[in-house]
Amino acid sequence: MSECSVLAPAKLNLFLAAASPGSDGFHPLLTVFQAVGLWERVTLRQVDRPGVTVQVVGQDASLVPLDGANLAVRAVWILAGRLGLMPAVEMLIEKSVPVAAGLAGGSADAAAALVAANQLWQGGLNNAQLNSLATHIGSDVNFCLSGGLAVGRGRGQLLEPIEPVLGPLHWVLLTRPGLGLSTKKVFVELDRIRPEPVLDLPPLPVGLLEALRFGPVAKVGPYLANDLAAVVLQARPEVGRCLELAGQFGALGAVVTGSGPTLAVLASGPDQAHQLAGMFEAADPAVKALVVAGPVSGPLAGAQ
Ligand code: C5P
Repeated sequence: MSECSVLAPAKLNLFLAAASPGSDGFHPLLTVFQAVGLWERVTLRQVDRPGVTVQVVGQDASLVPLDGANLAVRAVWILAGRLGLMPAVEMLIEKSVPVAAGLAGGSADAAAALVAANQLWQGGLNNAQLNSLATHIGSDVNFCLSGGLAVGRGRGQLLEPIEPVLGPLHWVLLTRPGLGLSTKKVFVELDRIRPEPVLDLPPLPVGLLEALRFGPVAKVGPYLANDLAAVVLQARPEVGRCLELAGQFGALGAVVTGSGPTLAVLASGPDQAHQLAGMFEAADPAVKALVVAGPVSGPLAGAQ
């Protein structure tokens, strides 16, 4: 095999509680992830020249680093190190997920790159082995490898799948091109605005798990929550305005995903999702609305 292409999905956080950072500087999290049908594609091609060269096209391509700061590049080097070989590959990243949007686009690229490189080099690593490498790349890479719907703990890398009986959830993602937020800065600001350290995480609302598993969809809405939203709404007040509009427009709920600024708006079905997308774009010219559904699977190897 001289070339391999893999698709990996974006994620939403339907619930996110963050405690104050531990000795490693990371914030212990309790979160619910859902993979949604917005896909990154990473293609690796074997070449003669040693090293990893990168080309990025698509959404926010100019904002994506081409060096070791790129999580997909790190993924390839880490996998090569694990397999004891010197990479000689060209990487093409075709982006659909906006950068610095709270949607884990960079982590999806890393997950896709791990799977693609493992195939290209016939590394034979299983999921558990890929997961142990993913942990060293970024907090969301493990979830991007697994996809679906899951509770995340630790930094977000300790996953417990949730098996939904309910059909897909339909979302409108209110993204803000060019107005991304740094995850690190959002966490630092969270610590600054908290009156005192938060040592304990709350329990996961049982009602949320039941609603996600069995429905009805309308019951999910009231449980959507994110501790990082306070920081995001401070930095991007327009997101707060859209949160209010979501109620007025008849959405089932809305939540800032990850470190934002994307607002995920829950719709009753695909028709309402498209209708809401038009309404938000008309109300806020800085919004680019994307209609997606989830959960979807993790990386799809061999995708053309
Ligand atoms: O792991 P990842 O590279 O996605 O995290 C980016 C930054 O966000 C980290 O360097 C850290 O500052 C912050 N972070 C955190 N607690 C987490 C996840 C991320 O403080 N659970």
